[in-house]
Amino acid sequence: MSQYRFIDVQPIAGALGAEISGVDLSQPVPDETFAEIRSALHNHQVIFFRDQQLTPDQHKAFSARFGDLLEVPFVRALEGHAEILPVMKGKAEQTKRNFGGAWHTDMSYAEIPPLGSALYARVIPPYGGDTMWASMYHAYDALSDGLKLVLDKLRAVHSPVRSYGARGAVVNNGDPAHKMDVRTDDRANSEVLHPVVRVHPATGRKALYVNSTYTMRFEGMTEEESAPLLQYLYAHAARPEFTCRFRWTRGALAVWDNRCTQHLAMNDYDGFDRELHRTTIAGDRPVGVAA
Ligand code: SIN
Repeated sequence: MSQYRFIDVQPIAGALGAEISGVDLSQPVPDETFAEIRSALHNHQVIFFRDQQLTPDQHKAFSARFGDLLEVPFVRALEGHAEILPVMKGKAEQTKRNFGGAWHTDMSYAEIPPLGSALYARVIPPYGGDTMWASMYHAYDALSDGLKLVLDKLRAVHSPVRSYGARGAVVNNGDPAHKMDVRTDDRANSEVLHPVVRVHPATGRKALYVNSTYTMRFEGMTEEESAPLLQYLYAHAARPEFTCRFRWTRGALAVWDNRCTQHLAMNDYDGFDRELHRTTIAGDRPVGVAA
């Protein structure tokens, strides 16, 4: 018998991801229904709702059920909605590096990275522009006991510099050729330390917590010394069997748990517009295995 009474939950892949139906997110969601949605998020790490009709205020109201909403640095927010980050690429943009186009965990460069995000599809290309997620629980679980023992004790340095530094991969300083306005500032050179393996505060499961976009090096080591093991972990984390891939449709909403997943936005729709709105939900300080 299903563990859900108020929603229907259909997994879309073996590792993570499930579509939820039977709920209209434009209306206040009753507490019992929301408890099941949160539990589905914990069980599946990323959840999807199709055919929702949400204004920016309704999008924010539903997202805020998971926690306080954050304002994201470096990227210009939606006019009149400081908590909404518009993820956009125009049909005339021939950019090699789209926003979110490399595997990452959102804002792992922050002292207290987000719990998760809620991404709502407004304009979707006729093909391409899918998003992929990877389960960092599965990535951790599949490592050898020996490597787990090593990683459990390590911390790593994270920084926004490669994306948002003066020569950052997605910085365009308001160039009108780009729909998004992404600017560097002093915060781009900041560094924080996080455990390489974090324990999820709700599920107690261990998740690999390094990503190729924001992780710089292991604590106490140089970038050169860290690179071989980090490169191995990045490739391992993106193994196809740890992933799911979502084909967007207009009005779909994805909510992901940023504490145990990475994601990547495909950049395979040149000549078409794509626009999604993201809210970002405040999280907790990552806790390692030894804590
Ligand atoms: C993001 O990384 O927040 C954006 C993902 C996407 O555009 O699919």
